Amino acid sequence: MLKTDFLIIGSGIAGLTYAIKTAEFHTDKHITIVTKSDEGESNTKYAQGGVAVVLDSRSDSFDKHVGDTLKCGDGLCDREVVEFVVRQGPQRLQELIQWGANFDINEKGFYKLGKEGGHTASRVIHHKDITGFEIERALLKRVHQLPNITFLTDHFAIDLIVGTKSKRCCAGAYILDIKTNKVKALRSSSVLLASGGIGQVYGHTTNPIIATGDGIAMAYRAGAVITDMEFVQFHPTVLYQKESGSSFLISEAVRGFGAYLRNIEGKRFVFDYDDRGEMASRDIVSRAVFNELMTQEEDFVFLDCTHLDMRLFKAHFPTIYDKCLKEGINVAADPVPVSPAAHYICGGIQVDKNGKTSVSNLFACGESSRTGLHGANRLASNSLLEALVYAHRIFEYQKSVFPAERMIIGEYEVQKVQWTDKLNKVETLKTELQKIMRHYTGIVRCDSGLRKAGDKVNVLKREIEMLFIKEQRSIALYELRNMVDTAELIINQSALRKENRGGFYNIDNIAKELHLV
Ligand code: FAD
Ligand code: SIN
Repeated sequence: MLKTDFLIIGSGIAGLTYAIKTAEFHTDKHITIVTKSDEGESNTKYAQGGVAVVLDSRSDSFDKHVGDTLKCGDGLCDREVVEFVVRQGPQRLQELIQWGANFDINEKGFYKLGKEGGHTASRVIHHKDITGFEIERALLKRVHQLPNITFLTDHFAIDLIVGTKSKRCCAGAYILDIKTNKVKALRSSSVLLASGGIGQVYGHTTNPIIATGDGIAMAYRAGAVITDMEFVQFHPTVLYQKESGSSFLISEAVRGFGAYLRNIEGKRFVFDYDDRGEMASRDIVSRAVFNELMTQEEDFVFLDCTHLDMRLFKAHFPTIYDKCLKEGINVAADPVPVSPAAHYICGGIQVDKNGKTSVSNLFACGESSRTGLHGANRLASNSLLEALVYAHRIFEYQKSVFPAERMIIGEYEVQKVQWTDKLNKVETLKTELQKIMRHYTGIVRCDSGLRKAGDKVNVLKREIEMLFIKEQRSIALYELRNMVDTAELIINQSALRKENRGGFYNIDNIAKELHLV
């Protein structure tokens, strides 16, 4: 029999940070982390730029970081949330350092601080250009030192167990053990969804293949409130490769380091859109690139690093430098072709200031949650920070409510999953979905496109339901169902937004704002 007191779905920065804190404090309780791939596979692992934290009081302040976050969020951030996330940054970072995460230091022994779009000060602490990999390494190391944590890799959360008595209440999750092909009903009176992002809904994305919106879709099916899904953030500088359709990110920190964006004619075009040029926030730069691509009828613009000090560049961005070289691009001499790709979901499962969702006993943290920090557009490098702060807040909140609530200890149920021989069908439907999302719900949207997307996704949803009825189930099908539910949320919430804010841009709203319709 499997017993657990705290169930965590996901092993990125959000899930692992919360697991460590909970296990260190509740030494008599049992914590279970389930994760669908290997232990480190996550968006966290690929984070490049770093963590935004105010560390240099001479050139920076909490007020400046708060101001930058609010400006970037374009009027839709929750100011109280922004204040406490920013102010708790240094403490939470200190814990990460105590758990063994290393960050770059200059010759004077101070942390090196990078700059990214929308920041008015250098405040991004980093580990070269593999910050997420280093954070994930340190967190996993600490997790493995704690005897009351069980780590179930290759375990896929299918759905939440939700009672509907007087108020919706979560009692655990159905988990598929990918290796044995069995489904376990894992009961727990505390469930944390830390299942990350949705990039794969678009296909062309910086996110790894695990980012299929599973947690958001599970919470949606369980009746939780999901908001702000129209605010999909597109990253402007993803390495362009026609053949492979690569989605390798060229960090915004490269622009913070001084790189220029040029169009095909060699012109630095971003100043035509914003006085901050390349250091404007990501929504503005992505739209500028998109516009340039449309007007020039090109597939990419250039990120020009040729004027930069290559010794320093290689020291800060060795992975990016090497990747470009491998693709035949010498960053010192050649401009790097880049184009935008889906990167981050600003919305998600709505949580209060303690990370509680609208379903009792269900918490959410990290990219799958919507806290109010990001508003209409996330400030670069605020995501890792948000996960650290909210993991702490949920832990602190639960200190006061546990063990007051009675634990429901795990039962073990088994059911055979029918593996599908119809994988090709699932793959075809997935490709179709990704095409629809790229075409109709990208950087620039319109009313008729959203209606078409809604109709087409409805048809796909019915086809997927048919596959379920026929019990042709596989991980790929479960993920596809989650991607379709996520797509539906993005489309429906986009259709409801009648003004353009931050990362959301519907050309028909311009006409409405100008009272032309
Ligand atoms: P993740 O790290 O994505 O972890 C989710 C976990 O849930 C994974 O372990 C996954 O396998 C698991 N999971 C998902 N579904 C299921 C399921 N059904 N069953 C079981 N397990 C499941 N942010 C910054 O602040 N700074 C940066 O520099 C930065 N750079 C980035 C660069 C890239 C290329 C990318 C993709 C993102 C970047 N971000 C950055 C964003 C940031 O990395 C993520 O938002 C953040 O790491 C999310 O952490 P998380 O713990 O919420 O989710
Ligand atoms: C990057 O390094 O450009 C990504 C930073 C982020 O997504 O916050």
